[in-house]
Amino acid sequence: MTKRIGMFAALAAIAAMAFAGGVSAEVTIAGGMQPGEGDAKAGKTKSELCQGCHGENGISMDPTTFPNLAGQFAGYIFKQVQDFQLGNRQDDTMSAMAATVTDRQDLKDIAAYFATRKQMKGKPSGSKLAKQGAKLFKNGNKKLGTYGACIRCHGKNGKGKDKSNSLFPVIGGQQKAYIIKQLKNFKSGKRANDPAGMMAMVAKGLSDKEIEAVADYLSGL
Ligand code: HEC
Ligand code: HEC
Repeated sequence: MTKRIGMFAALAAIAAMAFAGGVSAEVTIAGGMQPGEGDAKAGKTKSELCQGCHGENGISMDPTTFPNLAGQFAGYIFKQVQDFQLGNRQDDTMSAMAATVTDRQDLKDIAAYFATRKQMKGKPSGSKLAKQGAKLFKNGNKKLGTYGACIRCHGKNGKGKDKSNSLFPVIGGQQKAYIIKQLKNFKSGKRANDPAGMMAMVAKGLSDKEIEAVADYLSGL
């Protein structure tokens, strides 16, 4: 138990440094894109392939399969595509798509394009499940304590911290099926590209029921 608490403390410290902006996310992540580096206008044409699945304006063409990219942080999009390219993150479809963008500047332009689309926004389901999800989002749960409170890292309504902090993605308004899949992948270890294992730590402390609930809530924001 002491060992576990120690790990929590270390992670909390890393997260705290990231909040303060003292440690740039780029230390632990692939590449690193600074705000303003991409040309959104050029990115519109360069992202035609991507639009086939992620939508012309970054809203998924198939909510059961593809995530939204609209209004996601450019630095986050850039990092994820690089992670697919490097094999740090694996998905049969998306890994193949990522491999088609070999030029760094092209990728920055594409990321800037999606980041500047009207931000993803869902409709609240108003369900009982969503209410349970809201509680977890704001307060964490018994197992994780407040460490599991998503809002600490993902910001108000899950819309991220601020424009200059692309470490913590926008998750409010994301597709429900995608959120569930990612949380389960972090939990099982299939996805392990999160800096300092921050998300794995959280996901491992969630039951499948809680995952369903928080996804129901988040997708409606
Ligand atoms: C044939 C469909 C398809 C195309 C085309 C496609 N993607 Fe994807 N993309 C996916 C799928 C499926 C996922 C979800 C992967 C998973 O579940 O881990 C994904 C995930 C992503 C993610 C991760 C999102 C997140 O929130 O972490 C990014 C970023 C992304 N795609 C960018 C792109 C870019 C840039 C292009 C164009 C070069 C592109 N995609 C083209 C299917 C596609
Ligand atoms: C200690 C900080 C922290 C906490 C608390 C946290 N997250 Fe995260 N989360 C992250 C980081 C960092 C990433 C980005 C991982 C990466 O770079 O691939 C992430 C990524 C995600 C993703 C994947 C997004 C995408 O577009 O692929 C989902 C979904 C997610 N978090 C949901 C949650 C939920 C739900 C909670 C609360 C139960 C939560 N997170 C709590 C740090 C945190």
